[in-house]
Amino acid sequence: MSHLRRKGRLDAMQAEQELARVGTNLEKRRIQLKVIAFNGSPNKEGNTACSLQIVLDQLEGAGIETEMIHVGKKKIQGCIACYGCVKNQNEACAIKNDPVNEWIQKMKAADGILLGSPVHFAGVAGTMKSFLDRAFFVSSVNGNLFRHKVGAAVAAVRRSGGIPVVDTLNHYINYSEMIMPSSNYWNVAHGLKPGEMEQDGEGKQVMEVLGKNMAWIMRLIEHGKEHIPAPEPVEKIMTNFIR
Ligand SMILES: Cc1cc2nc3c(=O)[nH]c(=O)nc-3n(C[C@H](O)[C@H](O)[C@H](O)COP(=O)(O)O)c2cc1C
Repeated sequence: MSHLRRKGRLDAMQAEQELARVGTNLEKRRIQLKVIAFNGSPNKEGNTACSLQIVLDQLEGAGIETEMIHVGKKKIQGCIACYGCVKNQNEACAIKNDPVNEWIQKMKAADGILLGSPVHFAGVAGTMKSFLDRAFFVSSVNGNLFRHKVGAAVAAVRRSGGIPVVDTLNHYINYSEMIMPSSNYWNVAHGLKPGEMEQDGEGKQVMEVLGKNMAWIMRLIEHGKEHIPAPEPVEKIMTNFIR
């Protein structure tokens, strides 16, 4: 019996040493990860920006670089369905007089993407939707540029309409084969005037938990992807419900 106990202790020590060794190796080759956040509100310091910042603070606390882009007051046209991005295959939208193409490349270069929108008539704010339609269409027809990046969405709302907005933003993430971290409730924060979400204790916690989970998933992917290969991309089947 004492021989077995001694052996058990030795095994445990070896396992601990092995874990410490693997951990040190992972830390040594820690790669600088980056998350880019898009604030769909015209308010640079509004409730959407505050919500996104709480997520970003958690990511930064985990050593992840962050950047927030304010979409809300820019002049961004909606998709004109010209299919230029399909024809040209240059990772760019054919409309060139706004920052959408620059932001597509920023998203391509990032490891994680955060989408945030205020609720406007129970929907995503118009400028944000115009940007997302164009950027994600370009991505999908140019080899799926955002595939396997980690992506999450948040919404800011006075009273109701938060869920459909998060839901709509999640459609872009889902369609792109991105990996979505979750929180402990829907990613919605409440407030009317800029900054009022600071009083929404539960909303703030939702954002914190989301940031922590997002950072953890990003680290897991970074450390695991060379050991476990990603699934091969597939040729998309388009069934257009016509005969
Ligand atoms: C055009 C417009 C439409 C809005 N529609 C809604 C709505 O449908 N439901 C709601 O609860 N709040 C609505 N709001 C309030 C905003 O969602 C709320 O003030 C939010 O906190 C704004 O976020 P921001 O500070 O990031 O701009 C609306 C505000 C505007 C300007």
